[in-house]
Amino acid sequence: THSARPAGGAKPDPGAKRARLREIAIRAKRCAETRALGSLRDQFVFAIGNPDADLMLIGEAPGAAEEQQHEPFVGPAGKLLDKIVGAMGFEREQIYISNIVKFRPSTGDGDQGTRNRKPTAEEMATSVGYVHEEIEVVEPKVIVALGGTAMEGLLGLEGGVGSHRSKFHTLRGVPVMVTYHPSYLLRSGENREKRKVWEDLLLVMEKLGVQISPRQRRYFL
Ligand code: URA
Repeated sequence: THSARPAGGAKPDPGAKRARLREIAIRAKRCAETRALGSLRDQFVFAIGNPDADLMLIGEAPGAAEEQQHEPFVGPAGKLLDKIVGAMGFEREQIYISNIVKFRPSTGDGDQGTRNRKPTAEEMATSVGYVHEEIEVVEPKVIVALGGTAMEGLLGLEGGVGSHRSKFHTLRGVPVMVTYHPSYLLRSGENREKRKVWEDLLLVMEKLGVQISPRQRRYFL
């Protein structure tokens, strides 16, 4: 049960949640502190998906494809993320997908092609408050932090993803699983690493109370 939901299990009007998210997006886009950094590119990329989702995924920052399409996780990492989400039994539209930083970090040399850099601590500090607001509106049952940047930004944890994954942390009362970023899986190509992510996500599915088939349990073994 979710404390913030009315008794009887009725969910709040998703239209109202959508409107609140739009209002957060307007403030995040105009944010003077973020703009004052001068280290991020101009195109704002907010979030996508179901404003009343049980599952919220949080990545790092938009890249080239996201900047062009104004939507998180639509490039190569996003294509893999869609497959992972599908393997869990969800459609992309059912969940909520966002990023710690809502602008693509600049490398300072004009057209940076597909080159990206990790957001700095300062860039995350001016952005993470909006993510907290998104969490408060969506009220997910579980959050997944994709990669070390999301882990640092959301939970303030240092060290590698490997030392913090496979167990639940808590943020604003919501269980948070830390796992590897899909870009890491693309670089690694190793089934062993895919299996680690999958084991983290099996824990997420159990927490969400969704059915897991024996076949799903065996993926990447
Ligand atoms: N990587 C991320 O962390 N976020 C995106 O939106 C795209 C790629």
